[in-house]
Amino acid sequence: MNKTEKVQVAKVDTTSGEYEFHVLDGTLGPSVIDISSLYGDTGQFTYDPGFTSTASCESKITYIDGEKGILLYRGYPIDQLAEQSNFIETAYLLLNGELPSLNDYEEFERAITNHTMVHEQLRNFYYGFRSDAHPMAIMCGVVGALSAFYHDSTDINDPYQRMVAGRRLIAKMPTIAAMAFKFSLGQPFVYPDNELDYTANFLNMCFALPALKHKVSPTLARALDKIFILHADHEQNASTSTVRLASSSGANPFAAIAAGIACLWGPAHGGANEAALNMLMEIGTADKIPEFIKRAKDKNDPFRLMGFGHRVYKNYDPRAKVMQQTCHEVLAELGIKDDPLLEVALELEKIALNDDYFVEKQLYPNIDFYSGITLKAMGFPTTMFTALFALARTVGWVAQWNEMIEDPSQRIGRPRQLYTGYAERTYKKRSER
Ligand code: CMC
Repeated sequence: MNKTEKVQVAKVDTTSGEYEFHVLDGTLGPSVIDISSLYGDTGQFTYDPGFTSTASCESKITYIDGEKGILLYRGYPIDQLAEQSNFIETAYLLLNGELPSLNDYEEFERAITNHTMVHEQLRNFYYGFRSDAHPMAIMCGVVGALSAFYHDSTDINDPYQRMVAGRRLIAKMPTIAAMAFKFSLGQPFVYPDNELDYTANFLNMCFALPALKHKVSPTLARALDKIFILHADHEQNASTSTVRLASSSGANPFAAIAAGIACLWGPAHGGANEAALNMLMEIGTADKIPEFIKRAKDKNDPFRLMGFGHRVYKNYDPRAKVMQQTCHEVLAELGIKDDPLLEVALELEKIALNDDYFVEKQLYPNIDFYSGITLKAMGFPTTMFTALFALARTVGWVAQWNEMIEDPSQRIGRPRQLYTGYAERTYKKRSER
């Protein structure tokens, strides 16, 4: 499967004349007009702040149909993977393009398990942070620092080193995130336990204590594994585009993924799960909902309904459906009945889905709407939510990074601009100003 070239020609009228550009068709989704020769032909750029009409690359990894609410990883629907696969298998799929054979699965799982420990020196980084440091601040620093520890996997032109770097990142991210959590609690770090699977090991590193063993609930481990699958990739979102742009300069993968983590942190992206839960807590009771809905609709109030709306989904986010069900499973496993936050969330969703403002603007609940309630019930503080997102998204970042490096058309990403500053002027001495 490759893009079909030159099937049609788009005619574009510019101030300097009429030009023809090739239209390229993918397997699914809108076709694209190849304007790479536009500047050379016309001396003009395109202008698209926020990239709302721009395909920045060709990709075979993830497909989203925002109108229909469809999300496919390598062609497989997200709900099928969440229900029938596991995170490790999904990671293999995203990285390699196909579901693994039994042998391939075992080899991949063994390799990831063997890389779960971090260099002992890396612990010292944690002690340099304040105890109230946000886990995402720690993650940005520590993941970037991996490049100072694993020199043998920073040559991006060597496919073997790339594979090792990718596996290291996926394997070490739970250890790094759990260490950030433990540090914030003032508790000792818990080493990985390679007897446990990927997600159970993460829960153990978060909740065990040297003095007190932790029995990981298989139901909670399965629920979190599903959450990881839902977050594993999402085509050219802001953080993935950041990883691609950062590594387009030839930067090493640890540095590029650290850049992705920084981007993910923002409340309009990965930070929305933290913001959504804070919002539900602020609303507190269902009778306050109309007040918040009113604020969300007020153009003069910067408040937005967190966990609602999406740049691509103009329908119910397919991940939110699975997330809502997972939320119920987790609360049932933990014996949490009549959770006030869930009540507020369900009522808010009902009201918003029937409100003209949200209906007209096609603002549906996104994945972050229910993930916060679920993660909180599992025992994670809000500050850890985005760190868990980063852990899972690392798989997508690595897959997209690899795809970019292997793409023969890959060049350094270098957007241009519409300059509206001063035209040339003459420098005046300070004494003359
Ligand atoms: N509450 C109230 N109004 C909203 C909301 C919201 N959550 N989201 C969008 N709008 C309005 C917005 O004010 C604008 O109105 P108008 O056309 O009158 O100016 C219109 O809807 C379009 O919004 P936009 O900001 O132009 O849309 P966007 O595609 O640039 O932004 C978004 C998408 C996700 C940043 C935005 O919907 C938002 O801020 N949502 C809340 C944050 C959130 O939940 N983010 C998580 C996204 S899912 C996780 C991930 O994939 O990273």
